[in-house]
Amino acid sequence: MIRPLIAGNWKMNAAGADGRALAEGVGAGAAEVASACDLLVCPPAVVLAAVADVLAGSAVAVGGQDCHEASSGAHTGDLAAAMLAEAGASFVIVGHSERRADHGESDGLVQAKAAAAHGAGLNAIICIGETEAQRDAGETLGVLSGQIAGSIPEGAAAANTVIAYEPVWAIGTGRTPTVDEVAAAHAHIREQIETKIAEAGEARLLYGGSVNPKNARELLAVDNVNGALVGGASLEAASFLEIARQAAS
Ligand code: 13P
Repeated sequence: MIRPLIAGNWKMNAAGADGRALAEGVGAGAAEVASACDLLVCPPAVVLAAVADVLAGSAVAVGGQDCHEASSGAHTGDLAAAMLAEAGASFVIVGHSERRADHGESDGLVQAKAAAAHGAGLNAIICIGETEAQRDAGETLGVLSGQIAGSIPEGAAAANTVIAYEPVWAIGTGRTPTVDEVAAAHAHIREQIETKIAEAGEARLLYGGSVNPKNARELLAVDNVNGALVGGASLEAASFLEIARQAAS
């Protein structure tokens, strides 16, 4: 039995006082679900340390939304994985489709970022997923294979690597794949990570894309779905905790 992880990706929302208030809300409800699932919030970098302070001693871990592949240097505007760790992060998301699209991030860059995360002692959440055009063309499983082959670094293990399957067309749209489609994708991912992640059978595979309190139970019950990466519904403590409750029950 793999312990589920319910992760909130706040994206470019909830900084400052809003971020601290959201963290307080999540922290206040965490004890109720913490016996059955792990909780993580990934706030904007400017509020990460403050959120980590709010959640210190709680069951909620904190993560970054991205890191640079280098450990230091002349990289204006970027953050090293070790800086996130120092600010209180234990996880970092890499290769989110919004970064792949907005910043042209390639599989090779995502792999280097995940390696940097591991080097700093962080758990890397590596995101993969097909576009709508790729799904319509019947390319979904091939796209996932390519992203897995290219984005997972040497030294990845179940203890330091989480894979998040996020169909691009399901992000922020209210649309989700059918449970059969999720099951097929996750079974394929489990098979493909066998040679890339040590103890691959234990690695957590998250589903992400329009997860909400209404559909979470069904999505989280799918084979090889070991949690969720939640965007919009993680911006209110009550809906995020309700999703976690469904993972826990
Ligand atoms: P939504 O839950 O808002 O669809 O976002 C999913 C996501 O991109 C999480 O990383």
